Amino acid sequence: MNTDYLESSFLGSKEAARSMPKKVLPDQGMNPDTAETLVNHIRLNEAKADQNLATFCTTQMEPQADRLMMNSLETNAIDKSEYPKTTAMENYSISMIAHMWNIGEGKELYKDFIGTSTVGSSEGCMLGGLALLHSWKHRAKIAGLDIDNLHEHKPNLIINSAFQVVWEKFCTYWNVELREVPMDENHMSLNMDTVMDYVDENTIGIVGIQGITYTGRVDDIQKLDELVSEYNKTAKLPIKIHVDAAFGGFFAPFVDGFKPWDFRLKNVASINVSGQ
Ligand SMILES: Cc1ncc(COP(=O)(O)O)c(C=O)c1O
Repeated sequence: MNTDYLESSFLGSKEAARSMPKKVLPDQGMNPDTAETLVNHIRLNEAKADQNLATFCTTQMEPQADRLMMNSLETNAIDKSEYPKTTAMENYSISMIAHMWNIGEGKELYKDFIGTSTVGSSEGCMLGGLALLHSWKHRAKIAGLDIDNLHEHKPNLIINSAFQVVWEKFCTYWNVELREVPMDENHMSLNMDTVMDYVDENTIGIVGIQGITYTGRVDDIQKLDELVSEYNKTAKLPIKIHVDAAFGGFFAPFVDGFKPWDFRLKNVASINVSGQ
């Protein structure tokens, strides 16, 4: 009997009868078709984004976009000097997104805004948080705060308690106190009545969430901007807002009904977004 076909078929192959290796590399390699089938089987329930309501993924894109992404797999996009055309494309995109978020409307930021692609919003949030932290450290030193004395001057960041876990990671990695403004039945987004009670001279900034994944609401970032402007009038260390728009940054610009939440607002210094 000719059994050659079994070599390339998962069903009936010897490997199909064995347990899949889980801890160490097996002594012998596996037929690549079998390996692909195994991995696809294991991911079966998770891989269909539009059937996984818990996912944060884009559920559907134009096939052209899918193809472009597939064609980029062999590009090390982090290496800007080796891939100048890819870098140029990135910069065009950054400029378009910044303008979509109204960077141009009456801001001194307009001339020299910067942006970057990241692996996802988790990395974007880290960068936004770091920008707030370094800016605070710089200004706090000039203002004469002993920032090495962490008992008195441990930096803190303010956010509503339905934040995405990356903010907890940011605070843990960089030794920042996470000040959570609690939510309740009447406040399913950042509580504007109490948020400023959490601010002090060690506050590096406030995060406004433009799309809270758990409640489906948005923080009232326009109101937050007013409160911050009022605070900054007399503050020793004025603060800025970072907008976590992972969820809504590519959505809000295309639909009516959202209050201003982007660079139209005076104190919004940075924004992150994901392709979801
Ligand atoms: C509000 C918010 N912030 C941050 C993130 C992290 O984004 P990503 O999964 O792209 O790293 C997400 C989604 O996961 C999110 O919904």
